[in-house]
Amino acid sequence: MSRRLEGKVALVTGGARGIGLATAHAFAREGARVVIADLNADGAREAAASLGQDALGLGVDVADPASVTTMIAAIIKAQGRIDILFNNAGIGANTPFLETRLEDWNRILGVNLTGAFLVAQGCAREMVRVGEGGKIVNVASLSGQRDANGRAAYGSAKAGLELLTKVMAVELAEHAINVNNVVPGAIETDIAKIMHDQATRAAYGRLIPMTRYGTPEEIADAVVFLCSDEARYVHGHTLNVDGGFREAGLMFKRDAPAPSA
Ligand SMILES: NC(=O)c1ccc[n+]([C@@H]2O[C@H](COP(=O)([O-])OP(=O)(O)OC[C@H]3O[C@@H](n4cnc5c(N)ncnc54)[C@H](O)[C@@H]3O)[C@@H](O)[C@H]2O)c1
Repeated sequence: MSRRLEGKVALVTGGARGIGLATAHAFAREGARVVIADLNADGAREAAASLGQDALGLGVDVADPASVTTMIAAIIKAQGRIDILFNNAGIGANTPFLETRLEDWNRILGVNLTGAFLVAQGCAREMVRVGEGGKIVNVASLSGQRDANGRAAYGSAKAGLELLTKVMAVELAEHAINVNNVVPGAIETDIAKIMHDQATRAAYGRLIPMTRYGTPEEIADAVVFLCSDEARYVHGHTLNVDGGFREAGLMFKRDAPAPSA
């Protein structure tokens, strides 16, 4: 099978674990030279080492403009360019609206929306400078598409990111930079372990047509597609990878009696 990302320099933020780590492995498998950047600098370096000699591991706080600038300078110094950005770093939170403190709101928006903006803008500027186009995949969320308890800050940040993706797609098209969103459904990672209590897990079991959580590798496969030449005309799109959750309406078990009107 051909290696679809051969020679491309691919940055994965939040790549020390979870969906980011699985995607970094998938990028490497497809021939990319991978950079993993994470708040957990040691984790980023360990993850990069597990990928082999081409990979680079860096510390970054995506919410800190100076840190993002330093990260991009280090990538350009080491690899000369950035072809692919998987803009994945994010933090989870589950706080009732009435109890959400301003500092929590600011941190969640700061990482999940402002941080994604800072990294995307810095990478896009490098793509424009090199002049050979690029691929950017942002990570939105079902919490930004549908109502959910406790997701005022998280859902607002992800809804904002989904809209930002559309703006980026329109403005960056002339530079041959493809921009899309991937929306993971319920994926079994550390962030889900924090945000999903037993009641949430039971509800997902009832509401996802495929009746199971997804795996980080299932998101990684979709991201590789969006970053490959096969997706060259997919632009400004939001690809839900969620076992059918977003599209599901009322679902009754076949042997259950239909509700009376
Ligand atoms: N797991 C799910 O069910 C799910 C569902 C929808 C969306 N998402 C989104 O997918 C992305 C990855 O989620 P995950 O489940 O793999 O999370 P995770 O918590 O397993 O991994 C997130 C990584 O991001 C890093 N990170 C956190 N803050 C950072 C910062 N300020 N700067 C740099 N790195 C930072 C963490 O250190 C961690 O390595 C997130 O954006 C999340 O919101 C996840």
